[in-house]
Order: sequence, then structure tokens, then C-alpha cells
Amino acid sequence: MTRDAFPLFQSHLDLVQHYWERIIQKGDFVIDATCGNGKDTVRLAKLVVPKVGCLDIHKSRYPLIHSIDVQKDALESAQTYALSTLTTEQIQAIRWIQGSHAAFPEEIPPQSVKAIIYNLGYLPGGNKAITTQTESTLQSIEAALPLLKEGGIITLTSYPGHAEGALESKALLERLASLDPKRWNICHHRWINRTAAPELFLIQHQLRA
Ligand SMILES: C[S@@+](CC[C@H](N)C(=O)[O-])C[C@H]1O[C@@H](n2cnc3c(N)ncnc32)[C@H](O)[C@@H]1O
Repeated sequence: MTRDAFPLFQSHLDLVQHYWERIIQKGDFVIDATCGNGKDTVRLAKLVVPKVGCLDIHKSRYPLIHSIDVQKDALESAQTYALSTLTTEQIQAIRWIQGSHAAFPEEIPPQSVKAIIYNLGYLPGGNKAITTQTESTLQSIEAALPLLKEGGIITLTSYPGHAEGALESKALLERLASLDPKRWNICHHRWINRTAAPELFLIQHQLRA
């Protein structure tokens, strides 16, 4: 079925990209916590550096984008993709980090980041054994929440169709449901007429009245 068959969106990815486009603006700080092949990092780069010359590279605090993955090969393929797709300014805005998202670089100040995105699971076409793990994903969320600025978002797409993904989705649902509703506005998007379909969690840091 083609994308045109659906009036609003087809997949959880369409939906999450729509949220990013609504919220992320030129010059925002963002984190891609699961870089993989770099598709999402490239989308983020186009949102935070939308036009050539739109940011004063000398005045802006760089990098605008931290892109993290445990796999060296994934980061290399992401960088190749970015080089073939992005402008020099957009590429310069990205810091590539090989490591686990269980912790973020200490130099990222609290309440400074507009969006932290996760596309959980394993790299499509890659080693399925290297998948995000429930424990480190939960640790990462705890580390990510204090980094979000007011009005910022965390998005997580998760895949309960494989064993670790099912555990991860369940654990996320439980943990996120327990966060303070006065600070966090959290929703869970799930296709209810498809078996073990991908899911989307959206966390919004509320604006103080
Ligand atoms: C579904 S893929 C991400 C796809 C990617 N966003 C893209 O646009 O191509 C999930 C990625 O998470 C990475 N990963 C697994 N555990 C991780 C961890 N603890 N920290 C950071 N990345 C991790 C995997 O290596 C894999 O590349």
C-alpha cells in the first residue's frame, strides 16, 4: 500500500517526523541517541541548519547535534550518508560519538536540548544481536530528562516484534507512565489492529505557566 493511501500518516516514523518538524527550529540543540545509518541525524541537521548561511557559525555554540551509536560501522555509514546529502555547515553542526547512550557527554548543560530522539532496536540490514537493551534504554531516559529544555521533547520508536524489543516497550510503558504529570506530558501511540506493530512514545517537557 502506498503512503498516499492514508490521509494523515502511514507509519510511526511518518508520525514522529511530523512531531520533529513541528518542534525543532533553526539553531536548536538536539540529540540522536541511536544514530544507526544516519537517516534521522540527517533529518535533524536539515531542521537545525535549514539554509546555507542561516547561522553564524562563529557565534553559535557547536555542535548543535550529538549523534550517538555503539557501532563504529554504523557511524561510518552515517557519516558517508551525511557527506552525500548535507551541506558543509550542516555536517559541521554534528558531533559523532561512538558509545552507549546510557550516559550523555558531561558538557551538555541541563535543560538545554530541544529534542532527544531514539529509534530503538537493531540496525536494519545489520547485526540483529546489537540491539538496544531495556536496562541501558531506561538509564538513558533518566539521563535524558534533565537535559530537556521546557517545551522540549523526547521521542522513542520501539519494536515489540522481537524479544528484546517487547521487553523494552513494556518497560518503557511502565516507567513513563509513572513520571510526574505536572512536569511531563507523555503519550503512547500504538497501532491496535496490527500484531506487535512498532510503537511511538512522546515525552513533552511542559512549559511553565
Ligand atoms: C533502529 S537503529 C537506528 C536507526 C537510525 N536512527 C537511522 O536513522 O538509521 C538502532 C541503533 O541503535 C544502536 N544502539 C544499540 N544500543 C545502543 C546504545 N546503548 N547506545 C547507542 N546506540 C545503541 C544500534 O547500534 C543501532 O545502530
